[in-house]
Amino acid sequence: MEWLVARVVLPVLLLLFPRQTAGACGASRCCFQDPPYSHTDSGSALGPRDLSCYRIFSAGSYECSWRYEGPATGVSHFLRCCVRPGRCCYFSVGSATRLQFSDQDGVPVLHAVTLWVESRVANRTEKSSEISLQLYSLAKYDPPPRDIKVSKAAGQLLMEWKTPDGQDNADVQFRHRTPGSPWKLGHCGLQDDTGLESCLCPLEKDAAQEFQLRRQQSLKSQAPGGPWSNWSSPVCVPAETPPPKLEMNCSVELLRPDGRRLLTLQGQQPPQLELPEGCHRTTPGAEATYSIHLHMLSCPCQAKATKTLSLRKTLRLSGAAYNVTVISRNRFGPGLNQTCLIAPDNRTEPRTLNISVGAKGTTMRWAGQAQATTYCIEWQSHDQDRSRATCTLTVRQALDAAGMVTHSWSPASGVMEQEGCYRITIFASTHPKKPTSWSTVLSTYHFWGNASRAGTPQLVSVKNHSANSVSVHWAESPLSSCPGVLKGHVVRFWDEDSSQVSERAVNATETQVTLRGLRPGTTYTVQVRADTAAGRGAWSKPQQFSTEVQVSRLVIFLVSLGSFVSILILGILGYFSLNRAARHLCPPLPTPFASTAVEFPGSQGKQVWQWTKQEGFPEELPPQEALVVETFWDKGEGTGLDTAGPLKESQLAPEAQAEALGPGGQDGLAEGRPLLLGDLMQSPRLGDPQYIKA
Ligand SMILES: *[C@@H]1O[C@H](CO)[C@@H](O)[C@H](O)[C@H]1NC(C)=O
Ligand SMILES: *[C@@H]1O[C@H](CO)[C@@H](O)[C@H](O)[C@H]1NC(C)=O
Ligand SMILES: *[C@@H]1O[C@H](CO)[C@@H](O)[C@H](O)[C@H]1NC(C)=O
Ligand SMILES: *[C@@H]1O[C@H](CO)[C@@H](O)[C@H](O)[C@H]1NC(C)=O
Ligand SMILES: *[C@@H]1O[C@H](CO)[C@@H](O)[C@H](O)[C@H]1NC(C)=O
Ligand SMILES: *[C@@H]1O[C@H](CO)[C@@H](O)[C@H](O)[C@H]1NC(C)=O
Ligand SMILES: *[C@@H]1O[C@H](CO)[C@@H](O)[C@H](O)[C@H]1NC(C)=O
Ligand SMILES: *[C@@H]1O[C@H](CO)[C@@H](O)[C@H](O)[C@H]1NC(C)=O
Ligand SMILES: *[C@@H]1O[C@H](CO)[C@@H](O)[C@H](O)[C@H]1NC(C)=O
Ligand SMILES: *[C@@H]1O[C@H](CO)[C@@H](O)[C@H](O)[C@H]1NC(C)=O
Repeated sequence: MEWLVARVVLPVLLLLFPRQTAGACGASRCCFQDPPYSHTDSGSALGPRDLSCYRIFSAGSYECSWRYEGPATGVSHFLRCCVRPGRCCYFSVGSATRLQFSDQDGVPVLHAVTLWVESRVANRTEKSSEISLQLYSLAKYDPPPRDIKVSKAAGQLLMEWKTPDGQDNADVQFRHRTPGSPWKLGHCGLQDDTGLESCLCPLEKDAAQEFQLRRQQSLKSQAPGGPWSNWSSPVCVPAETPPPKLEMNCSVELLRPDGRRLLTLQGQQPPQLELPEGCHRTTPGAEATYSIHLHMLSCPCQAKATKTLSLRKTLRLSGAAYNVTVISRNRFGPGLNQTCLIAPDNRTEPRTLNISVGAKGTTMRWAGQAQATTYCIEWQSHDQDRSRATCTLTVRQALDAAGMVTHSWSPASGVMEQEGCYRITIFASTHPKKPTSWSTVLSTYHFWGNASRAGTPQLVSVKNHSANSVSVHWAESPLSSCPGVLKGHVVRFWDEDSSQVSERAVNATETQVTLRGLRPGTTYTVQVRADTAAGRGAWSKPQQFSTEVQVSRLVIFLVSLGSFVSILILGILGYFSLNRAARHLCPPLPTPFASTAVEFPGSQGKQVWQWTKQEGFPEELPPQEALVVETFWDKGEGTGLDTAGPLKESQLAPEAQAEALGPGGQDGLAEGRPLLLGDLMQSPRLGDPQYIKA
């Protein structure tokens, strides 16, 4: 009868009523019938083992799982369940060693049931040990979720995660391995119900590790607790030592016409540590990653000056200054980094920027870029370091008909308020929040202020007088530090008699010019002017000078005799022949050495004396020389001669000069230098032609 039912009736019923009958005695419902085999245990040493049944917490369903010891081929499993003695059902599981069912599948979950597994192999039946339990109360928890936070804490590894909903009071274990080593088990301990769980794990100094964690419902009443959850997905952890830095070189090309330049990073990524089995190159965590931190240093007023980019070999950048840092980072944070400072492109083009200053303010115009939405105008005082640069952003500037952009500001805006040289650089961007999007529009120097006034040559002096040439010197102009602003100098001079003006062009970089072809013994006036791109400058204060008087060979011959008589004759000759020339000098130039030497014992001479007293000068000066000079330089008239010899008026003590100079006699002072002992000690003897030449 049983045979008939199993072999004939059931298949027929299955064919006719597939749904109901499949539900009746298949894997999906517990079938309250005798299983279709003799279930007497064959007593084999092999068979199903370690049956465990539980509620799957997160799924709300139930599961039994077991192991099968022995060859698995041809084995079919039956999960048996007895609600009470005599009332039993079975699931036909097939070859699987795991079965999930719901509380609707015939097994009561709120009451204790007894479960075991019977495995059929050929005509044998093997039976597991029985377990009795209330299914609902024994929950299998979820493993810790994927997003486990890993950090270092006091030389250990701290893992933290959110407790899966409702699965409080868990016990937690971990296992870990290094490359090529087996798993080692560790305990995290009991967790609380704060919603956060954590585990302290060991950290390896030099090796990457793989961790897995699992959780278990801890039952206060029952000692063994529920089943362990599955192991979590791998947590890959780097060695404790920080990742090595990437050694790199940066090289930057010249700025291209589009206002961008190519930056090339050359370097080799250091070799990575070996990884444990479950950690792959694609599993983040164990390996260091490298990225580029780009900081645009120019144009500090922009909305966003920094950006972190993935590591790459080339970047296209504007001509601005950048700080390019390659950062190594692993899950413990940043490691060492390497920086390249990219200097700003320092080339400038003059006359690309039109700046006009009016009563209402200042206007700048430059050739715009069609796509640009934002311009950044950076000004930097030429004498200050780059970090003092200031800037202004102009947003949504429309191009005018000539393709130009105009930017104006009022005098009160505080931009470029100090007179001086500024370097102005304009950058453009289509996406101003992207530091990589900028390009250089132009860079030029501009002198802010009244260039005509600031450039007026100062401290004009005349040196190296000879009979027909002098050199004219002036102080370096503040404009000359502003490349491209100063266009050149013009020197003009004329002599008193002819008032015919001659002009000489002098390069912008020069601060002196030698005027040749002058007439001997003539007084000239000279002025210097600095011209800028904006126009002519103002003339400097008129400066007078005199060329030297040519002295005849006879005089030199006589002087070379070196005798007292010849000097006397020379003195007389000099008086008569030179007095004429002297009258032309206006204002009369002083001849202090001569005059003070004469008055050596007198009031002016005393000053000289006092000034040089410690050097013992007066004692060493032969008295007859002083006497001769007295006859040569007539005190009354002789002061009109500009002698320009080796010893000059300026070598006097200042007080003496002041007294010796007539009105307007300042001219000779500019080139003055202090009186040196050496000058006096080496005062030429009377026979010295060089001296007498004067
Ligand atoms: C099982 O089958 C084998 C041969 O296939 C036979 O020798 C053995 O007696 C059978 N055992 C039972 C319990 O029927
Ligand atoms: C546990 O792992 C098994 C197989 O590895 C899988 O079938 C099952 O769904 C996992 N359970 C949970 C709760 O993730
Ligand atoms: C960087 O440049 C220096 C000098 O040219 C060279 O010695 C070094 O090997 C370079 N480093 C890299 C990583 O290319
Ligand atoms: C460049 O960046 C590095 C790393 O952030 C920093 O240490 C350095 O001070 C920066 N240099 C400049 C000039 O900003
Ligand atoms: C680079 O390293 C220095 C010191 O090591 C650190 O202060 C700086 O913040 C790092 N820079 C970046 C961008 O991480
Ligand atoms: C521009 O920079 C280059 C290289 O950095 C330097 O050699 C050159 O002198 C600089 N020119 C000016 C005008 O500063
Ligand atoms: C500069 O702008 C002013 C006023 O807009 C204009 O008169 C002048 O011609 C411009 N100069 C140049 C060189 O573009
Ligand atoms: C610039 O200075 C010169 C000389 O001091 C003066 O004549 C001129 O008016 C000034 N120009 C302006 C625009 O202030
Ligand atoms: C002035 O003359 C001295 C001596 O003759 C000479 O060394 C110097 O170069 C000259 N200076 C100028 C600017 O001509
Ligand atoms: C100015 O300098 C240029 C180039 O350096 C040169 O060709 C020219 O002759 C110089 N002019 C004067 C007046 O020195």
